[in-house]
Amino acid sequence: MSQRFIRDRVHAVGVNHWNRRLFDSLIPLPDGTSYNAYLVRGSEKTVLLDSVDPLLADEFFANLTGVEKLDYVVAHHVEQDHSGAIPEVLRRWPQAVLLCSPKAKSMLVDHLSIDEARIRTMADGETLSLGDKTLHFIHTPWVHWPETMSTWLPEDKVLFSCDFFGSHLATTDLYATDEWRVHEAARRYFAEIMMPFRLQIRKNLEKIQGLPIDIIGPSHGPVYGRPAFIVDAYRDWASETCKNQCVIPYVSMHGSTEVMVHHLVEALTLRGVTAMPFDLSVADIGKLAESLVDAATVILGSCAVLVGPHPAVANAAMITNALRPKLRFAGVIGSYGWSTKMVEHLAGSLGNLKVELLDPVLARGYPKQKDFEALDRLATVIAEKHAAL
Ligand code: FEO
Repeated sequence: MSQRFIRDRVHAVGVNHWNRRLFDSLIPLPDGTSYNAYLVRGSEKTVLLDSVDPLLADEFFANLTGVEKLDYVVAHHVEQDHSGAIPEVLRRWPQAVLLCSPKAKSMLVDHLSIDEARIRTMADGETLSLGDKTLHFIHTPWVHWPETMSTWLPEDKVLFSCDFFGSHLATTDLYATDEWRVHEAARRYFAEIMMPFRLQIRKNLEKIQGLPIDIIGPSHGPVYGRPAFIVDAYRDWASETCKNQCVIPYVSMHGSTEVMVHHLVEALTLRGVTAMPFDLSVADIGKLAESLVDAATVILGSCAVLVGPHPAVANAAMITNALRPKLRFAGVIGSYGWSTKMVEHLAGSLGNLKVELLDPVLARGYPKQKDFEALDRLATVIAEKHAAL
């Protein structure tokens, strides 16, 4: 993409990864992603902010053609999609000093075998002059690892936030001009990467509040020319306010559990609760994660497999537990053949969540009238509990 103008002597030099479809060998990327890096040329010093995934290093270094002098490289975050090409940057520009947070230093040595003599750590709030431009470092931990930091460029009112505010979206649009599209991608990204760290995100939002910021340059997805768009969205997502929504990840082998899920969806809908079923045999796990950003309740629907839950539902429970959404209520419904321990198994997988467990509804074989009535009662309980929030 070469060097794209943001401000006078502030350029985006990252790359799009159009055909990447999986991140961390886990997260589906329906729209690819980008690895953003930025080049800032002060009157005296030049700095590179982050690098790219080593898979696309050739394109990245082509973008840096003509950069003869590089004084500093900033590693906002050690994860390799941003730091992976830094060892080669340091080899090509042997005078460059690598700047990072104190916590990042040993991680850069351990993950990338970088010579620690090349590294200088920057304290929270510390500044570094580039001449007529200044780097102002702001520690923003847990977005998405504990060592992450951001850099504010006060003269140009630009915040380089790394994963914070990012979106997995490959696009030729430098700016988030299609805000609806970016909103969905950023929300999905928040769900997959940021959601467990809501308290810390709220603290990070407080740290940048009041700073004059006209532009936010994240490390994935387009740049924000209207920062309030993404900052306000983050305030909402990172809050502890739940919405009147019930997420129902489920699997059915012979249709019994699916009939129960359909009945529950109908019963919830009649009671004014937004129901979001996900058939895990075909569902996009990223969509499931996104649905958990605001939901008040999750109901896991499973058929029994050798007495326990279906492995896909066990996996969904494990993912839900790891993402620590702001859920308040959880439950299990499903069908079994002769006996089951799936409630114990699934409830035991949700230990990270501060949820009230609702009474399960389990049918032996195909659900009967009493099972449908139990699902109706469950829907009533969910609606009443949501109303009381
Ligand atoms: Fe985009 Fe946590 O790396």
